[in-house]
Amino acid sequence: MIPADIRKDFPLLSEVCYLDSAATSLSPEPVLQEMLEYERRYRANAGRGVHRLAQQASQKYRDAHEKVRKFIHAQEGELVFTRNSTEAINTVASGLPWQNGDEVITSLVEHHSNLLPWMRLRDRQGIDLRLLTPGPDGTLDPSALEAVITKKTRLVAITHASNVLGNVVPVGEFAKICHDHGALLLVDGSQSVPHIPVDVEQLGCDYLCFSGHKMLGPTGTGVLFMKNPGLEPLLVGGGSIEQVTAAGYTLTGGYERYEAGTPNISGAIGLGRAVGYLEALGMEDIQRHEQDLTRRILAGLAGIGNVEVFGPGPAGDRIGVISFTIRGLNPHDVAVMLDGEADIMVRSGHHCCMPLMQHLGLADGTVRASLHCYNTIEDADLLVDAVRKIAGDWER
Ligand code: ALA
Repeated sequence: MIPADIRKDFPLLSEVCYLDSAATSLSPEPVLQEMLEYERRYRANAGRGVHRLAQQASQKYRDAHEKVRKFIHAQEGELVFTRNSTEAINTVASGLPWQNGDEVITSLVEHHSNLLPWMRLRDRQGIDLRLLTPGPDGTLDPSALEAVITKKTRLVAITHASNVLGNVVPVGEFAKICHDHGALLLVDGSQSVPHIPVDVEQLGCDYLCFSGHKMLGPTGTGVLFMKNPGLEPLLVGGGSIEQVTAAGYTLTGGYERYEAGTPNISGAIGLGRAVGYLEALGMEDIQRHEQDLTRRILAGLAGIGNVEVFGPGPAGDRIGVISFTIRGLNPHDVAVMLDGEADIMVRSGHHCCMPLMQHLGLADGTVRASLHCYNTIEDADLLVDAVRKIAGDWER
C-alpha cells in the first residue's frame, strides 16, 4: 500500500492534479533537501580534491552510484551516470565499433531518443536499420523480432514500456532471441524503471538506460547500465584519465572512464535519495497502486461515448500511461481545457513519437495522462469527470 500521507512531500499536489509524470515526475522534499544539503554544507567537486569537503562530496557521489546500481541489481563497474536516457543511448550508438553491413533493429513504438541515434548511424555510417511494427494496441510481439533478426544484427534497441500507449514489452523474450543470434540488446527503461521492479540480471539485456527525472529525481540525471563496459566513451577529458603526457593519454577504468568533466553532483545525490524513497515505498506496491488507478481511469473513460482510448486494455501488461482522444477536439485543446477547468496537468500531441502517431493515423496525437506513486483515486476520478464534461459539452 502506498501511504496517502506521502502527498505532503510534494507540495505542488495541493495546487494541481499532476498527471504528467511520464514527461517528468515531481521530486519529494527529502530529495530536494538532500540536494540543498550538498549545495549548502559540503559543495565541492567530486573525485578530484583532497580537502574535507571534496572528500565528503566524492563519498556522497560514490554512494549515489551504489544506490542506483543496487536498485537495478547491477554489478560493480556496470553503471555510468549520464544527463538522461538520450545521452545514454547516444553513448551506445557512438561507442560501439560498427562495421559495414551491421544491422540495428528498433521499433515504431520508440521515443525519438531511441530512434534518431540509430537513424543518424544509418545515414552516417551506412548501417542497415529495421523497424518492428507494433500491433494496433502498440504491443510488440517477440515473433516480429524472430522474423527479421539475422546473423548481421548487431544490436536490438527496444523500449521496455511505451511512453504513449503504456504497454510493457516482454524484453526478457527479446533478450533470448538476441543472444541466440549473437546480437546485443539495449533496453530503454525510461518508463519502466520508475514504475516497476527492474532487475538487469533477469532482463538479460546488455544495455539499459533511464532518466532520473522520471523517477522522482532531478532533471539532468540519467543512467547507462552496460553489461560489458567496452564502449568508446562519448567524451574524454578531466576526471576520466589514468595518465596524460604531452604525447597522449590513458583512460581510467570504472565509471569514471565514461564521466569526463565535472558531473551533476547535486543531481546524482538527489537521484540516490530518490531511489531510496522509491525503495521505501516498494516497487511492487508502486506498480500495484498505479495499476489499480489505471484500471479505474480506463473503466471511467470507456463509459464516455466520444472518447477513444489507445493501447492495451485493463488486463494487458501495462504501466500507468493512458492515451486518448475526444472525437472532433484537438488534443492540445483538451489539455488546455483540463488545465483551465480542473487544474489537471496532462501532456498532449505526439509525445516525441511521431512515427508511432503516423502509424496509428493520429495526425494530432493524443491526450496522455500518466501516473506516479503520489496519484490517488481522487485524481483518477477528477480526470474522468473532467473528460466526461468536456466531451459532453463538445457533443451538445
Ligand atoms: N519522454 C517524455 C514524455 O514521454 C518527455 O513525455
